[in-house]
Amino acid sequence: MEKPYRRRDLLGIRELTEADIRGILDTAENFREINTREIKKVPTLRGKTVINLFFENSTRTRTSFELAAKRLSADAVNISVSSSSVSKGETLVDTALNLDAMDPDCIVVRHGSAGVPHQLAKVSRAAVVNAGDGSNEHPTQALLDAMTIREHKKKIQGLEVAIVGDILHSRVARSNIHLLTKLGAKVRVAGPGTLVPRDFGYLIEEAGTSRGRESVSTASLTVCPHVEDAIRDADVVMILRIQRERQDSAYFPTLREYAVHYGLTNGRLDLAKKDAIVLHPGPMNRGIEIASEVADSSRSLILDQVKYGVAVRMAVLYLATGGSLGS
Ligand code: CP
Repeated sequence: MEKPYRRRDLLGIRELTEADIRGILDTAENFREINTREIKKVPTLRGKTVINLFFENSTRTRTSFELAAKRLSADAVNISVSSSSVSKGETLVDTALNLDAMDPDCIVVRHGSAGVPHQLAKVSRAAVVNAGDGSNEHPTQALLDAMTIREHKKKIQGLEVAIVGDILHSRVARSNIHLLTKLGAKVRVAGPGTLVPRDFGYLIEEAGTSRGRESVSTASLTVCPHVEDAIRDADVVMILRIQRERQDSAYFPTLREYAVHYGLTNGRLDLAKKDAIVLHPGPMNRGIEIASEVADSSRSLILDQVKYGVAVRMAVLYLATGGSLGS
């Protein structure tokens, strides 16, 4: 079922051009002010329907998509797996077809398996937005991270960004590597050897096959042997959550050892530039991947990330349902 504008779906950052990304971020900037008003509501999406279909738990993403839809006056419906007929054995495609029969304008989906949003997009007439698919991508998280970085550093081009932790299972890392390298940042990744792929050839190959769009170059992406090497002189330090739910074997001996060898403490953060900022997509494991002294410090922008998430999701819903870039 061909859709008139393929850009209406947001399936991953991999499929976007640099201009697409800048356009979404500029659109989000325009929506940001609405969230500071006393009456946080505009009629932009009046008459549109957004379905949030979450097969995995979420606090930030689901709430901010719902708020984004409601602040734009769309009707928002939340479906969680436990209350849907998926728990009675209905297939994913049948669920999608049944939801589509109710004529929503947009389906926002989170699923534990990579590729589910792409599968849904093939059968649904509604625009499909990926709210996180397994270890594949989390495009709106990378967009809100970029908005936070842009706000505080006034640029992304030329920045040194350290991404530390469970790179292997992280859809946040994958989307951020695509986005940050497309926008001209240099990314360094580090973590336990078992949780950092040595070879990012898969990212380069994937990006290269996406209809001639820019690919991740090895010059923009460095795998560091030690966390300290990644953090040294970084402008941005992005800490990832230990994803115990996606780890089917022991990737490191104990959480205590993880905290000692890889956790972000003030001591490690002192290696970064003096004005370095700290990001974490949440939910945080305090005292494991990030010490509370860092998470609660003035260098931490973790709650700013959450705040910008609403504006980014307003922009994404607006563009998915027919709005123009940069409006
Ligand atoms: N960052 C993020 O995706 O958080 P949630 O799992 O709470 O949505």
